Formats: sequence, C-alpha cells, structure tokens
Amino acid sequence: MYVPDIDFLTFEDIPDILRLNASSSCSWPEEVIRSDLRENSNNEITYLGAFATTAEAPLLGYAVLGREKQEALLMALVVDSVYRRRGIGRQLVAAVGDCAVYLHFRRLRLKVRKSNAGAISLYSQMSFVGETVRRGYYSNGEDAIIMSARLPLKAGTKS
Ligand SMILES: CC(C)(COP(=O)(O)OP(=O)(O)OC[C@H]1O[C@@H](n2cnc3c(N)ncnc32)[C@H](O)[C@@H]1OP(=O)(O)O)[C@@H](O)C(=O)NCCC(=O)NCCS
Repeated sequence: MYVPDIDFLTFEDIPDILRLNASSSCSWPEEVIRSDLRENSNNEITYLGAFATTAEAPLLGYAVLGREKQEALLMALVVDSVYRRRGIGRQLVAAVGDCAVYLHFRRLRLKVRKSNAGAISLYSQMSFVGETVRRGYYSNGEDAIIMSARLPLKAGTKS
C-alpha cells in the first residue's frame, strides 16, 4: 500500500488534474474543473488530491465531492495508471467520505459505468451497494450503475 498526502486541490493543480485525466477514461471536463476551482467559485464542489510523499510531490490521483439536492455525490475518482492497485483510490474515497460526514451528510452516492468492474469492486468493498441502473446514461450508450453507501464509510472486505 502507498500512503499519499491527501489535501485539497486548488486552481494551481489544474495542469496535473488534466494530466491524470488524459490517462483515464473517466475524465472530468476541463471547463468544469476551471469553473469549480476558480477563486470565489460558489460551486459546492470539493477536490481532494493524493500527493506523493517525495520532494516534488506530484499529484497521483484525485476525487471530487459534489453536493446536489441535499445529497453528497462522489463525482470523479482518478488514479495515475502507474500508481494503481496500491490503495490510493480507496484512500481517496475514504477521504471524500470523511468530508461528507464533516458536512453532515448521511449517504454518499455515485454513478459508475456498468463495465468498470475494478471501480465497482473498490466501491463494493467500501460498503457501497447498487441502487438502480440508469440505462444509456453515458454518451456511448453505456448504462450507469447508481451506488450509494451510508456514512461513515466502512472499509469492507473483498467478496
Ligand atoms: C478505479 C481506480 C480509481 C482505482 O484506483 P486504485 O488506486 O487502483 O484502487 P485501489 O488500489 O485503492 O484498489 C482497491 C481495491 O479495489 C479493487 N480494484 C481496484 N482496481 C481494480 C481493477 N482494475 N480490477 C479489479 N479490482 C480492482 C481491488 O480489490 C483493489 O484491492 P487490491 O489491489 O488489493 O486487489 C483507478 O483504476 C482509475 O483511476 N481508473 C480510471 C478512472 C476510473 O475508472 N474511475 C472510477 C469511475 S469514475
């Protein structure tokens, strides 16, 4: 397991976020990121980053917590492909869960591609359960699975 430093992201981190998105199929559009992170943005969005503990401290992954209609939403989760399967995704989801608890939410919800078995496995281990399927939700026609978990999150076991 790799234990990164987890911290809030700012406008200055945008190039690194875009670098991670370029290597991921789960990218968050650049204009949305710029709008979310610009100073004095009123958007109720929190970006958390996982930084390497080396002197250069590159960004290894990030997650986005959004709030919509009284709900806490895990809106994005990306880990640098070189650093995957080292527990960084799990630690980012846990940090998003902690933030949501701090903001007094009781559930955390997310959407994930039906084909994204790795992410679904990670979320299931962290006590997310499938609630419903949104047919043809993604632009390529793929279904989204809506999953949610009671807060605080529990780090479960692999099934
Ligand atoms: C999904 C993603 C964030 C996981 O990040 P990660 O840092 O590799 O995840 P972790 O190392 O914390 O994985 C925790 C557990 O989840 C499961 N898991 C994670 N990725 C998996 C994969 N590709 N295949 C199977 N199981 C996987 C494993 O059980 C893993 O534990 P293990 O490595 O001890 O077996 C990463 O693969 C990624 O950035 N993918 C592209 C973007 C994406 O799909 N985001 C999620 C949906 S928007």
